[in-house]
Amino acid sequence: MRLLALAGSPSARSRSSALLRHAYERLQTLGRVVDAMGLLDIPAQDLVQGHYAGEAAVALRARVSQAGAVLISTPVYKASFAGGLKAVLDLLDEKALAGKVVLPIATGGSPAHLLALEYGLKPVLSALGARHILAGVYATDKQVRLGDGGEVFIDADVRARLDESIERVAELTEPQPGQIAAAFNLGKLALAGGFGI
Ligand SMILES: Cc1cc2nc3c(=O)[nH]c(=O)nc-3n(C[C@H](O)[C@H](O)[C@H](O)COP(=O)(O)O)c2cc1C
Repeated sequence: MRLLALAGSPSARSRSSALLRHAYERLQTLGRVVDAMGLLDIPAQDLVQGHYAGEAAVALRARVSQAGAVLISTPVYKASFAGGLKAVLDLLDEKALAGKVVLPIATGGSPAHLLALEYGLKPVLSALGARHILAGVYATDKQVRLGDGGEVFIDADVRARLDESIERVAELTEPQPGQIAAAFNLGKLALAGGFGI
């Protein structure tokens, strides 16, 4: 079973993507095969025009459809999740998340918008058919610091909550006996190829 990490921040230096990357790397060490995609992988014009038939949208839907679990990260913008991420989700089919485990991750400048995942993102995920949405992981900017050299410093409390959610994703996506060898090889290939979040 493959997993998908979907980054919703438009920023190249992104705290929410950094948390997602931590989850991605952790799940790989747990033997999961994780694809990664970000908002910036889809041409802006396709997003603005909702270009459903575009190459990037087709690739996005294929990756979502192959994934048993989808991890979605977003910054909080204006008390909700990022509009760019909404444009990505708008390119999915109606019940694209049915039967999938979904882990939402968000960062915001203020703890006051902790509930943005609950009242902003989760209803959209439900509308896309998600019925197994794990408790979201929210962190403030102070809890996720980015160094000048690309280092990421995640506060212990956030790291513990994130790792707990990652363990849960791993449990729920346990490879079946025949899939383990293939997953290992594909994981090595993914590492060699790098990824864009
Ligand atoms: C346009 C814009 C709107 C924002 N609105 C909020 C907000 O309403 N509440 C909040 O807590 N933080 C807000 N922030 C701060 C970001 O959520 C915060 O810096 C976040 O960590 C950025 O995530 P990123 O680094 O992954 O892009 C806003 C930032 C921008 C650029």
